[in-house]
Formats: sequence, C-alpha cells, structure tokens
Amino acid sequence: RARVAILISGRGSNMMSLVAASRAANSGFEVVLVASDKPEAAGLAWAREQGVPVFAHSPRGIPKAEYEAAIEDAIRQSGAEAIALAGYMRLLSPEFVGRWEGRILNIHPSLLPKYKGLDTHARAIAAGDAVAGCSVHLVTAELDAGEVLGQAEAPVLPGDTPESLADRVLKEEHRLYPRVLAEFLAR
Ligand code: GAR
Repeated sequence: RARVAILISGRGSNMMSLVAASRAANSGFEVVLVASDKPEAAGLAWAREQGVPVFAHSPRGIPKAEYEAAIEDAIRQSGAEAIALAGYMRLLSPEFVGRWEGRILNIHPSLLPKYKGLDTHARAIAAGDAVAGCSVHLVTAELDAGEVLGQAEAPVLPGDTPESLADRVLKEEHRLYPRVLAEFLAR
C-alpha cells in the first residue's frame, strides 16, 4: 500500500476522512504521518488517539527553510511516498515543492481555476454562481494552480451564507479526496 503523509493546520476533517478511508478493506493507501504547523490543531489530538504518528511543531521563530527541513525529515522517516495537504494553510516553498514535485496533492474549496486563494465560498456567492464545489489538484510552486485531478460540485442555494455553503461543499470534499488520492496513487 502506498504511504501518505497528511499536512493539516486545524480541524482536520479531510484528514479524518482520509484516515478512515485508509482503514477500509482493500484501501490503496496507508496514512503514516499527520503533521501540523499548529501544535494545538484539533485534528492532531484525533490523529494521536487513532495511533497515527504526528509531527506537531510551530514554525514560529524558525527560518522557513529550517522548519520545512524538519517537516521533511519527519516525512522521510515515515516512509511516505506522497504528501496530501488537507487544510494546510501555509505556503510551501518552491524548493520544498520542487523536491516533491508531482507527489503533493491539495484539496481546495472551489471549482478551480475559479477562486484560488481564500474566501472561496463568499466569492462564489457574491458572483451569483449556481454551483460551487471543491477540487483536488497537484501542488506546484504557484498557489492553487497545479493539474486538477478531480472535482465535485455542490449547489449554491438561496439564502446561503459562506458557512452554509462551506458545510455543503465539505461533505463533497470528504467523498472526493479519498477517491482521488487512491486513484492518483494507483496510476
Ligand atoms: C477545507 O474546506 C479545505 O478545502 C480548505 O480548508 C478546509 C479545511 O478543513 N482548504 C483551503 O482553503 C486551502 N487553501 P479541514 O481541516 O476540516 O479539513
């Protein structure tokens, strides 16, 4: 089974869906590390309880290259062949991305190439979009611009707030990411 490291910054619900999928019979991958730049991330406590090895260090006061080297050490020690970003809210340096090119995936809460960056749901509502969604894509040095590997849609409903739309899209994220990651690792 392919070994995957997951990077999170917070709640970690996509990480949880990936760990759950990895534990299903005949899953194509195994989660060997959950790393967070926020030691207090809610998702980390869950991962620990599940017995998944964790890396929990803040980059505060540490040069970026040094911090990334520490994460990368943990990733290499875990034996991971691929990295799945799941709500990791920090930009990886071009150097880091270059070393893992083609092996880092991210999930983004919009139908890329629409709404790269932040506040995707507010922007979809403001634009009057009838359909929103999420994308799993390869990570390149350019933000949210790598090859799209899979997408799922969710309707924008009358009266939606960014929060209500985010909830609806998040349910799709939890289905999409495990499927696309497994397909990617099998190809
Ligand atoms: C998810 O909606 C994910 O798509 C988004 O953050 C949320 C994390 O939730 N990612 C980004 O906005 C990346 N720029 P989670 O921690 O519960 O998975």
